[in-house]
Amino acid sequence: MEKVLITGANGLLGQKCVSLFSPDYEVLGIDIHDNSFTKNSKYVYQKSDITQRTALRKVVLPFFPKYIINTAAYTNVDASETNKEDCWKINVEGVSNLIYVASKINAKIVHISTDYIFDGENGPYKEDDTPKPLGYYGKSKLASENELLRCDLEFAIARTMVLYGAAVNVRPNFVTWLIDKLRDKEKVTIVDDQFGNPTLADDLAFAIKQIIEREKWDIFHVSGSELVDRYTFAIQIADIFKLDKNLITPIKTADLNQQAPRPLKSGFILDKLKEELNLEMPTNEQSLKTMKKQYRK
Ligand SMILES: NC(=O)c1ccc[n+]([C@@H]2O[C@H](COP(=O)([O-])OP(=O)(O)OC[C@H]3O[C@@H](n4cnc5c(N)ncnc54)[C@H](OP(=O)(O)O)[C@@H]3O)[C@@H](O)[C@H]2O)c1
Repeated sequence: MEKVLITGANGLLGQKCVSLFSPDYEVLGIDIHDNSFTKNSKYVYQKSDITQRTALRKVVLPFFPKYIINTAAYTNVDASETNKEDCWKINVEGVSNLIYVASKINAKIVHISTDYIFDGENGPYKEDDTPKPLGYYGKSKLASENELLRCDLEFAIARTMVLYGAAVNVRPNFVTWLIDKLRDKEKVTIVDDQFGNPTLADDLAFAIKQIIEREKWDIFHVSGSELVDRYTFAIQIADIFKLDKNLITPIKTADLNQQAPRPLKSGFILDKLKEELNLEMPTNEQSLKTMKKQYRK
């Protein structure tokens, strides 16, 4: 079996990648926690921090992976504005360390990036549109892409957005947060002027597997197929999960006072994914129905 290293194995996407790859590949998952959050006996978990180059090298080289999937990241967009050092260390230096380790064994890297590298002035975006991040998180993710663009390894970058799904012990994402609020009969206000393509983590993991198996070393936009504003998405979620949509009120981003500025008119053009990987991404309804089977309280 071919060997895959999955970083951030305890995160939302990391867990999905571990469960998708572990039947067909020998998987080593690493993360910063003492133990694996999931009970999957088909993979090996090891605590390892991607910011610690020497320690990382000691864990990765003996395993000798053919592929490295980097889902580990500092993902708190607002906190990135104040914790710049931590954000840069994980999102940029962590990637540089993975490149260093991969170059010792000629491993191929699949790295995950974000639509936050764009300013949201004129989305939806295609892969070769010019990046212009608004906040520090986006700047760090763009810098992580540039680390890869400068290296001599074969690599792919999957840019994604509004990632959601059900997983063990992970921080709430937009969909799980909303479902929990509506189940508790709480009123919520949701912005109707932030546009994007919500992405089920399971669908992204599937696309990553396709990238690896078809050896497509390139930059891809990978998201759900539907471009919607966040309020419309909230109504779709309430519909699928049979929750009370009268609890949801639309508001504007300007009223939110979020610490980091958000790209408003974002979204991805998915033509390249379709042409090069023959991948048709699901609609929100299809993906939310997939998640519904996994997310129960
Ligand atoms: N979530 C979104 O809406 C979104 C949108 C666009 C792109 N992305 C990108 O998609 C990827 C996956 O996101 P996700 O939502 O699955 O993230 P996540 O759930 O936060 O998972 C990331 C995992 O990496 C771990 N980690 C943090 N620092 C680490 C380090 N130094 N070494 C090893 N592991 C470390 C985290 O641990 P802790 O939780 O303890 O920090 C967490 O378990 C990331 O690259 C993210 O930037 C996400």
